[in-house]
Amino acid sequence: MRAPPAPGAGFMSTPPQGKLPLPRLAELKREGRKIVMVTAYDAPGARFAEDAGVDVILVGDTAAMVVLGHEGTTVPVTMDEMLFLTRTVARAANRPIVIGDMPFGSYQVSDEAAVENAIRFVKEAGADAIKLEGAGPSLSRVRAIVQAGIPVMGHVGLTPQSATMLGGFKTQGKTAVAAVQLVEDALALEEAGCFAVVLEAVPTPVGAEITERLSVPTIGIGAGPHCDGQVLVYHDLLGLTEGHLPRFVKRYANLSREIRDALESYAEEVRSGTFPEEQHTYEMPAEELEAFERSMRSPSRSKASDHATKTSSTAAKAQAPAPRSEPPLRKTSSP
Ligand code: KIV
Repeated sequence: MRAPPAPGAGFMSTPPQGKLPLPRLAELKREGRKIVMVTAYDAPGARFAEDAGVDVILVGDTAAMVVLGHEGTTVPVTMDEMLFLTRTVARAANRPIVIGDMPFGSYQVSDEAAVENAIRFVKEAGADAIKLEGAGPSLSRVRAIVQAGIPVMGHVGLTPQSATMLGGFKTQGKTAVAAVQLVEDALALEEAGCFAVVLEAVPTPVGAEITERLSVPTIGIGAGPHCDGQVLVYHDLLGLTEGHLPRFVKRYANLSREIRDALESYAEEVRSGTFPEEQHTYEMPAEELEAFERSMRSPSRSKASDHATKTSSTAAKAQAPAPRSEPPLRKTSSP
């Protein structure tokens, strides 16, 4: 039997300072301490996750559904879109391990294409590792990417990129035969070099059995409490996703309600004129105001031609860069 590469052995380079070392995940499993993973798709999400002490951030291809507006499928998201999102997350996340999720079409064709695209996640987007779905044909992709020095997270059970072949977004491994196949797939992914494996939508005893048999951590999403860690989609757990949610989601907030209320209040206040209030406005020195008003009332101002000249010169000045001594408005608390 081929010896599996040690998890993290081919790590690309020295991880950035403060980054959770990848082998720490296997240590957490051995110590019986749970691993916390969440998805994120932008810099604020990454910062919130880091500040909450999350260990691993997955820039999931669920982005297709939760941020890019595709209905019920992860398939349309492209490499360029995933790279863009991963770059924003990697820029903001220091300690958590950032995993770029390889989109459909980026690794199915050949080992070479898979390695090229995995390298793009690392070089162009700053990912620490990548995730891909499935076992079978994906095993040789995992080996090739790990040999290129990039850590790989596996994903079995419900694999949304092949949801059509699986008969939809359905629980997997519900028969004994299917459950045994899942155990074998997870073992094969470990053997191919994965540093962790996501188990999605499988019965609790199957999640427990795989977790028991693997020496690398399992990260469950609808795979029961015995997995070494858990992952949820950011928008689901915060209540930003509206409509039907899978059984495995627990909502920890109802942000869509808060956002809707806030936007409705804003629209109502703009229309009624109650926003902005004095505290949201700027003043000018009294003597400048007086001079301004005098200037505006001078007879020459009423001439159309003069008005046009002055307006265009004022507009030109407004477009010129602010003098160095004036900080940008957003950076100051009281401009
Ligand atoms: O894309 C994603 O967000 C995922 C998680 C659900 C594991 O693959």
